[in-house]
Amino acid sequence: MPRLVDPALPAGALRALAQPEIAVDDELRLRPWRAGDADPVRTAFTTPDIQRWHMRSIDGDDEVQQWIDDWATAWQAETDAGWAIVRTGDDQAIGQASLRTLALFAAQAQVSYWVVPAARGARVAARATRALTDWAFQTLRLHRVFLLHSTANPASCRVALEGGFPAEGTLRGHMLHADGWHDMHVHARLSTDR
Ligand SMILES: CC(C)(COP(=O)(O)OP(=O)(O)OC[C@H]1O[C@@H](n2cnc3c(N)ncnc32)[C@H](O)[C@@H]1OP(=O)(O)O)[C@@H](O)C(=O)NCCC(=O)NCCS
Repeated sequence: MPRLVDPALPAGALRALAQPEIAVDDELRLRPWRAGDADPVRTAFTTPDIQRWHMRSIDGDDEVQQWIDDWATAWQAETDAGWAIVRTGDDQAIGQASLRTLALFAAQAQVSYWVVPAARGARVAARATRALTDWAFQTLRLHRVFLLHSTANPASCRVALEGGFPAEGTLRGHMLHADGWHDMHVHARLSTDR
């Protein structure tokens, strides 16, 4: 059946780009994950609140490396795009920021983030998310980037608002976590937002 609306972005728009490093500010930047990032990944996946709000666990060093390697595969498949949030001073990974469930035909993606406990308290996720979304609008030409967080996760609500994502509403019983169904707040930034 013929399409009435052309895809907003063509297939191939992501993999045509080499994954860039993205400057956040004087202290932070985003860079592709590397094999040497195993320690912070292991730390993240054994941190209770990161485990609580994410869907997967990691079992052993092979899975840590697999998680790191999967980002390059996902970039080529144009399904997800993930960066390590690193300190500019020592290039140490302290968190992750990513575009999930990328839908080029709709020019949309969902943003996801975590920060290791030792690096919290400096609004790292909001700063990184804002810079990542700016790149997604200006270079990839996405139209809408949204995020979902459980209503039981107020820290993520603060990140969303500080990252420039106004709240749009609540999806009732939308996501199944290990402890049951959660109501989810939707926040989004549009490329046309100021
Ligand atoms: C959410 C997360 C990324 C924020 O880390 P961060 O960028 O270092 O954020 P900060 O520690 O600077 O806190 C940001 C804001 O949240 C608030 N906050 C932090 N923890 C909170 C908590 N448990 N309850 C309520 N507010 C909290 C802070 O007071 C701060 O608010 P302010 O800017 O108005 O002062 C981090 O807590 C994390 O990795 N959590 C687990 C994973 C997660 O929830 N990911 C998102 C899933 S949707």
